[in-house]
Amino acid sequence: MTNGLGMTPPMGWNSWNHFSCTIDEKMIKETADALVSTGLSKLGYVYVNIDDCWAEISRDDKGNLVPKKATFPSGIKALADYVHSKGLKLGIYGDAGYYTCSKRMPGSLGFEERDAKTFASWGIDYLKYDNCHTDGSKPIERYPVMTRALRKAGRPIFFSVCEWGDMHPAEWGALVGNSWRTTSDITDTWESMISKADHNEIYAEYARPGGWNDPDMLEVGNGGMTKDEYIVHFSLWAISKAPLLLGCDIRNMTEETMEIVANKEVIAVNQDPYGIQAKKVRMQGDEEIWAGPLSGNRIAVVLLNRGPVRYSITALWEDLGLAPNSAVEARNLWEHKTLETRFVGNLTATVNSHSCKMFVLKPIA
Ligand code: GLA
Repeated sequence: MTNGLGMTPPMGWNSWNHFSCTIDEKMIKETADALVSTGLSKLGYVYVNIDDCWAEISRDDKGNLVPKKATFPSGIKALADYVHSKGLKLGIYGDAGYYTCSKRMPGSLGFEERDAKTFASWGIDYLKYDNCHTDGSKPIERYPVMTRALRKAGRPIFFSVCEWGDMHPAEWGALVGNSWRTTSDITDTWESMISKADHNEIYAEYARPGGWNDPDMLEVGNGGMTKDEYIVHFSLWAISKAPLLLGCDIRNMTEETMEIVANKEVIAVNQDPYGIQAKKVRMQGDEEIWAGPLSGNRIAVVLLNRGPVRYSITALWEDLGLAPNSAVEARNLWEHKTLETRFVGNLTATVNSHSCKMFVLKPIA
């Protein structure tokens, strides 16, 4: 979608993975405060995105969406003003059907222009648009109605197409939105996380500045995976140029969670101006190499061990598109170390079970 937004993948937070429908304006404000006080907003995490369940089940008598009085008594405009005063952006959630997925608030089908105008008048910066309880027509028919409505509403709003990948949104998403879900909902387990990464990888060639594949939001910090597994989760999302939308309770993050999501070097891979999504360049049983080009003639590489035991994993220059005799300097992004060895022809590292190593390689002239 040519609205000038999403030139790099969006970064921020979304309420769904941790809070589900238990949300209110106090928690959203505290989350905005915490994004600032932890330093995360300075690293790029600027979107504060409210997911499902923020509105009353009925529209007002003019047909407008109404924020839930019990949980958002000050209204969304006041919340947007608050979030903007912190230098952050406010996102909201809607649905291209009659009801949202929770069935606890109305969808925008037939009300697209009215709702887009409402969102713009509140100062909304990001719309996640879901696909539940529809009239059965194709998403490719319903989503562009909201694209046009947002354009007419006169405020740049990042448009996140949430269609779960069923109708291959990568193939049409770039014309309609700034990102599109390639997968069903993530859960906080290794199996779910890794399967979303796999499924999203299929569409790598469709990602580009302004339009990103979205394997769903981050679970880092929600407690269902080990530290190494969360490092894999964050590394794969980063190298896949996925939206980095935190899904934990930002107000109560452990040091371990912070260490993962605040890794500047891994974030820099995600936010690289080239915007090229990494692909699997080699798969051998439980060993995988994911790689993709970065600006400055560099290459981002993840050596991934999906199996139950430790492996020694080798990335070959032929798989990375490097000349066989080129010498390379390797930066280990999780150890924050530039390795002393110059590598020629390949790079080998031992990788523990359900773990990865992530490098940026730079050819030496
Ligand atoms: C769908 C979406 C989720 C979340 C819920 C809310 O399942 O895929 O990300 O927004 O709806 O009900």
